[in-house]
Amino acid sequence: MEAVKTSDNKLFVPSLPTLWPGMLLSNARPGALPPFSSPSARYFYFARNAVWLTMKMLRLDGGEVLMPSYHHGVEVEAVVDAGATPRFYRVGARWDVDLADVAKRIGPKTKALYLIHYAGFPGPVDAMRKLADEHGIPLIEDCALSLLSSDGATPLGTTGDVGIFCLYKTLPVPNGGALVVNGPRQYSLPEPPAPPLASTFSHTVSALLQNLELRGGAVGRGLRGLVRSVGHGTVKAASIQRVATGTQHFDRRHVDLGMSPLTKRIALAQDLEAIVEARRRNYFFLLGRLRDVSPPLFNQLPPGVCPLFYPMVVQDKEALLARLRDRGIDAIDFWKRFHPACDPSEFPEVAQLRRTILEIPCHQDLSPEVMAEVAEAVRDALKAERRPSQRTG
Ligand SMILES: Cc1ncc(COP(=O)(O)O)c(C=O)c1O
Repeated sequence: MEAVKTSDNKLFVPSLPTLWPGMLLSNARPGALPPFSSPSARYFYFARNAVWLTMKMLRLDGGEVLMPSYHHGVEVEAVVDAGATPRFYRVGARWDVDLADVAKRIGPKTKALYLIHYAGFPGPVDAMRKLADEHGIPLIEDCALSLLSSDGATPLGTTGDVGIFCLYKTLPVPNGGALVVNGPRQYSLPEPPAPPLASTFSHTVSALLQNLELRGGAVGRGLRGLVRSVGHGTVKAASIQRVATGTQHFDRRHVDLGMSPLTKRIALAQDLEAIVEARRRNYFFLLGRLRDVSPPLFNQLPPGVCPLFYPMVVQDKEALLARLRDRGIDAIDFWKRFHPACDPSEFPEVAQLRRTILEIPCHQDLSPEVMAEVAEAVRDALKAERRPSQRTG
């Protein structure tokens, strides 16, 4: 898999993996990891729908759910919309859950514990399981950022009463979230209806065009621009209903939307082990090339981890983002805001994380050559950040 530079010497490094045309025709492989390996898996348009349904399924509406103070916000919105009340526990400066704080905050109204595995890095799921069992309450394992990741030999999402996954952040699929129920309890869940075809089509075309640009440099970029402008016109003219993925907020109107059959087809055709391997290779590469200029959040990549991105600590997110985007790297500002129900002054380490973490892409489409360019661009951007003349403009 090879990405090339455009004629103006710009890289094209999208934040998500792109869709290679051959993937539309490949045969299904046996899914060896959850949710694909789980007979209880239910699929939805987004992971947020699975969060909402979990609240209803476990009858948590009306009760309190103990959630991490380091959260996206949309999962908290889904919990609130379903009628439950979020309460928050402390997470430290290295994404470490404060188990003593969790234990201290469990009270008579606590109806469930909620654990998020951050960017593929496993949270303390066994200890959380133990706490949940001691109090006779369920554990929800949110793996929206941790598809294909394991804690050693234990796949994430298999220890909680429920595991929740997002497919489209890790795989080149147009939509998709999943809910896996672990343990003996059975729930009869409705099969949600497939999303509008036009929405799937529009996301699929956009992922194919990204692939074209990834491989085709300036020609691919030109073609992508052309198709996009025609596409926008067509979407408008036909008033096509496109349900955006990756948005910041929960929208009740989409809670019943299911996953498209095309997502399943593409997902099952993926070589999941090769994806984990490529992401780990790219992560190690960045770790090696960046650790002297930016102290890493994690010095290690524990066995089994499938990193969603490389979390980089920076002082001036806006400036770094602008510099990287200028070089063609689609870095992302990771989790800027607290949900309004969570008081930032209570969680200063999380407030600091929100001010300082950027996502640097390390996904499976990026070759070692491209990663070398990404590392160089990041080093340059950090150098510029440290030059006083640049800072004062
Ligand atoms: C921790 C967490 N849970 C749930 C979600 C919801 O995922 P989706 O966009 O698939 O609804 C997100 C989205 O980023 C998330 O970060």
